[in-house]
Parts: sequence; structure tokens; C-alpha cells
Amino acid sequence: MALLPILCFPDPRLHKVAQPVQAVDARIQALIADMLETMYDAHGIGLAATQIDVHERLIVIDVSEERDQPLVLINPEITWSSPDRHKGEEGCLSVPGLRGVVPRHQRIRYTGFDPQGQPIDRVAEGFHARVVQHECDHLIGKLYPMRVTDFTQFGFTEVLFPELD
Ligand code: NI
Repeated sequence: MALLPILCFPDPRLHKVAQPVQAVDARIQALIADMLETMYDAHGIGLAATQIDVHERLIVIDVSEERDQPLVLINPEITWSSPDRHKGEEGCLSVPGLRGVVPRHQRIRYTGFDPQGQPIDRVAEGFHARVVQHECDHLIGKLYPMRVTDFTQFGFTEVLFPELD
């Protein structure tokens, strides 16, 4: 296992769109182990392959208090999202030193595959749903500040951009 360097804003590679994982082989298994090690070492809640300069649809998450419940999602897709959005604070290992309030869908349904190649199909809400949305955004080259709708939190005096879909 190895710690992987995390790309930081404004590195343009963070805006690449990831391609689907073609096979859950030894290379992907090693990548998953390295991503989990890197995420825990950095005290992160989630890490997308994009952030370590691998442009394939793979994310790792751990939203547990004890940091002992890793969730690995290969080829994740958000297949449904509730119309209601809630605002919550986010940070990102690729945007160090900044926090921002981002509106996210309160409930989502997501699919993907686990490291054994078994399909996953789950409904999540609240913080879990927020983290999945944040990490899936990385896979399409979006960082959370691009989802911020209220720029007053950064000292601007008015909202500058309309809400994104
Ligand atoms: Ni992030």
C-alpha cells in the first residue's frame, strides 16, 4: 500500500471527466487500498480517483464516527435525487483551508459495484447523501465551490451566480 499525492486546486487535472472502470482487477484492487489509506491518512471523509490523478469512476467514503466503515463505490451513479435540497458545510482535500456551504439533494438513490464486483443499489440521506454527491461531482470534474450559491459566506455582499443543476 502507498500514500498517493492528492491534486489541489487549481490543478486543471481536477476538471477531467472520469471514464468507467472496465474491470475490477488487481490494479483496481491495489488502487482501492491506496485510496483508502490516503483518505484515512489525510483525515478525509471521501476521496475520488480524480483527486489522485486517476480518471476512472471510483470513489471511497467513510462517514462513520470511528472511521472503520469504508464504502467503496466502483462506477457510482446517482439514479434519483429528491427535489428538496439542504445546505451544509463542506470541505475538500483538494481545496485545503477552505470551507463552504453547499446546497445538496437531501435524499438520493445510488448504484455502483463493490470491490468484489457485487452490485450496490442504495438510498441515502443527509450527510451520507451529501458526501456521495460531493465525490460523484469530482468524477465529472466539479469541485464543491462550483456548487456554492451564496457567496456572502466568502465576504461578497450578494449572490453572484444562480443555482446549478
Ligand atoms: Ni472533495
